[in-house]
Amino acid sequence: MRTQVAIIGAGPAGLTLGRLLEAAGIDAVVIERRSADYVLGRIRAGVLEQSSVDLLRQMGVNQRMDAEGIFHDGVELSFNGDMLRINFQELIGRRVMVYGQTEVTRDLMDARAASGAKSIYEASNVQIYDFDGETPRITFDKDGQSHQIECDFIAGCDGFHGVSRASVPEKAISLFERIYPFGWLGVLVDQPPVAEELIYAHHERGFALCSMRSHSRSRYYVQVGSSEKVQDWSDDRFWDELRARLNPEIAESLKSGPSIEKSIAPLRSFVAEPVRFGRLFLTGDAAHIVPPTGAKGLNMAIHDVAELATALSEFYGERSSAGIDTYSARVLENTWRTERFSWWMTQLLHTFPDGGDFGRRIQRADFDYLGASRIAQQSLAENYTGFRP
Ligand code: FAD
Ligand code: DHB
Repeated sequence: MRTQVAIIGAGPAGLTLGRLLEAAGIDAVVIERRSADYVLGRIRAGVLEQSSVDLLRQMGVNQRMDAEGIFHDGVELSFNGDMLRINFQELIGRRVMVYGQTEVTRDLMDARAASGAKSIYEASNVQIYDFDGETPRITFDKDGQSHQIECDFIAGCDGFHGVSRASVPEKAISLFERIYPFGWLGVLVDQPPVAEELIYAHHERGFALCSMRSHSRSRYYVQVGSSEKVQDWSDDRFWDELRARLNPEIAESLKSGPSIEKSIAPLRSFVAEPVRFGRLFLTGDAAHIVPPTGAKGLNMAIHDVAELATALSEFYGERSSAGIDTYSARVLENTWRTERFSWWMTQLLHTFPDGGDFGRRIQRADFDYLGASRIAQQSLAENYTGFRP
């Protein structure tokens, strides 16, 4: 088989890229190691920046998003129970949308199926070759047979544990990483959200987040130690811990119920440099990871593939490699800006085992400064809603 762009991974990055290339008349195949149902079963991000919403609209995958997505004008921060609302709309005239990653993925998969674009699910043993030359190749196994795809370019949209970044020679890549000494235990529940907007809560017992997927489905998280196991967290234990970390009035009105999903995600900051290697491009989680505190991972993935689609359109349309040549620099600029913001939100809101009294006083001073300074609030608002210079 031959295609122009082989896309590895059918997460948000791969599926968005597929859609953008289709619109540009560029032939692409998506190769995914899991089944479509498995991909749709992963509960992940929940917040879209305005620029992500705009891109999904531009791609024509907005019907359900426009009907079911919920615009939020701001978020609430809580510091040991003291509340501070950050009103994005009033501060900088922007807002975000609550619409789950699962829904974005489903909309993109449906659009792909409707247009007949080629996707290969349950491809095992995916390998990539010759991306330092002009004719890269991909091999994989499916239904007991070996397959090969020849292509012009490979888009590595295969997440943090994918084959793309792992195939780059060690000496060609630099990795920057910080692993945090905690994770997030998340619970999905069919109950109305505790508040109209998201609440990011710092508490001595640890961070907590009240989020949502709809007016009747809520998503909650609590910070847990790195070695914690999901099976040690009964629903009751989770709800007790969450309530203990919230402002008492809010805790009082929290509606709990049986969890319909419960999982622990580790927190990490990670950047690979560069993100282009000849005819291989890394995008999304394959290229970088942020701790989820700033709600950025999904939005960064969408940003990267929008840049890549533009670069590839220029290559095929105008025979110009200028976009391809600057892809890495453009992605890395956005990556480090967003890494900084996600790291900052994380260190403001979490409890660090070795933070000490000094660390706790600095966190309090940071929160108080935010409360007192409109400029500090604008900075948070600008970054949370997605800064584009
Ligand atoms: P992925 O979604 O990881 O997709 C990669 C795909 O590649 C997967 O389908 C995988 O199966 C496939 N794959 C892997 N290896 C191979 C291979 N060898 N061959 C073929 N296919 C392969 N981000 C936010 O913006 N906001 C949030 O609120 C948020 N919350 C999160 C909560 C959790 C619990 C987690 C885990 C993440 C969260 N994120 C959040 C991050 C966000 O989900 C990711 O940044 C986003 O999924 C990245 O998309 P991606 O397409 O780059 O990677
Ligand atoms: C959600 C996750 C986040 O990391 C975040 O910052 C906001 C919302 C969520 O899953 O709803």
